Amino acid sequence: MKEIEKVLESFHSEIEKVTSLDELNALRVKYLGKKGIVTSLMKNLKNLPNEEKPIFGQRVNKLKNTIEELLSRKREEVNLKERKLRYEKERLDVTLPGARKTIGHRHLISKVLQEIEDVFLTLGYEIVEGPEVETEYYNFDALNTPEWHPARDSHDTFYISTEDKTLLRSHTSPVQVRTMKKTKPPIKIIAPGKVYRKDYDVTHLPMFHQVEGLVVGKDISVVHLKGTLDYFAKNIFGPERKTRLVPSFFPFTEPSFEVYVSCGICGGKGCKSCGFTGWLEIMGAGMVDPNVFEEVGYDPEEWTGFAFGMGVERIAMLKYNVDDIRLFPRNDIRFLEQF
Ligand code: DAH
Repeated sequence: MKEIEKVLESFHSEIEKVTSLDELNALRVKYLGKKGIVTSLMKNLKNLPNEEKPIFGQRVNKLKNTIEELLSRKREEVNLKERKLRYEKERLDVTLPGARKTIGHRHLISKVLQEIEDVFLTLGYEIVEGPEVETEYYNFDALNTPEWHPARDSHDTFYISTEDKTLLRSHTSPVQVRTMKKTKPPIKIIAPGKVYRKDYDVTHLPMFHQVEGLVVGKDISVVHLKGTLDYFAKNIFGPERKTRLVPSFFPFTEPSFEVYVSCGICGGKGCKSCGFTGWLEIMGAGMVDPNVFEEVGYDPEEWTGFAFGMGVERIAMLKYNVDDIRLFPRNDIRFLEQF
């Protein structure tokens, strides 16, 4: 009987110290488990005189019930404490201001492209698009570009398949050909889009944007070209800017020009920005070559036209004083937010 008292006492002092469900389980096993203290008390039964057996049995059973009762009470207590702790940890202050999600910013190239399109839309041009995966025929052959032309070199152009002569277009000029083959003149279109070349430095990207322009009609002359591009430059860069045509060469135009705008920083006097020339090149242009007209089935005696092509990144750099073209694909919001 003494033994039973002792067991209960030691149980009391042990359960006092319990703080977690794990400890509580361990304690239950220690006392009530198959090899537990209470269970082994029962084994003493056989050593007792017969008349003491029932009393001892009752006591041990009572002890077992008491321990079970205490364990389940403790279990509730520990459960409650653990839950409180968890709630404290998971506490959510719904009155705190939310973490603001930053939204992006329109890309400078999108903005400048829109500005360019707006100028020509005002003049009644239509916007046309063409595929970025082109054929050699549209990208070079139909544009009167000879087999030996350096632009055809695989060092400059991304070829996809030499078998079916596909490539990533290196300029937007193939859209001219596609449009003329589909439509009868007169034509007044611009063709914006992505183009690809094997180039990468502060002024060149392997993927960039161009806007192509094409006007075909009766008696279209260099005067129309010059007037249109001067109007364009004044609208994009400012009314005080001047333009100038410099003879050049493109296979698909004759004559061909490089178009220059007066430097906005020195006003044309010459400075570091314009290489001390007073002028900045903004695009290529020219009168559509009769060979191109013949290729698309237009009579060069009846129709004339002018065309031009500009790089959107270049226009953006000149207008907004961006000195490294690689800032555009980097997409840093701190850069984009400045425009
Ligand atoms: N396709 C030329 C280039 O990528 C730009 C160009 C020059 C387009 C003259 C034209 C043009 O339509 O007439 O360098």
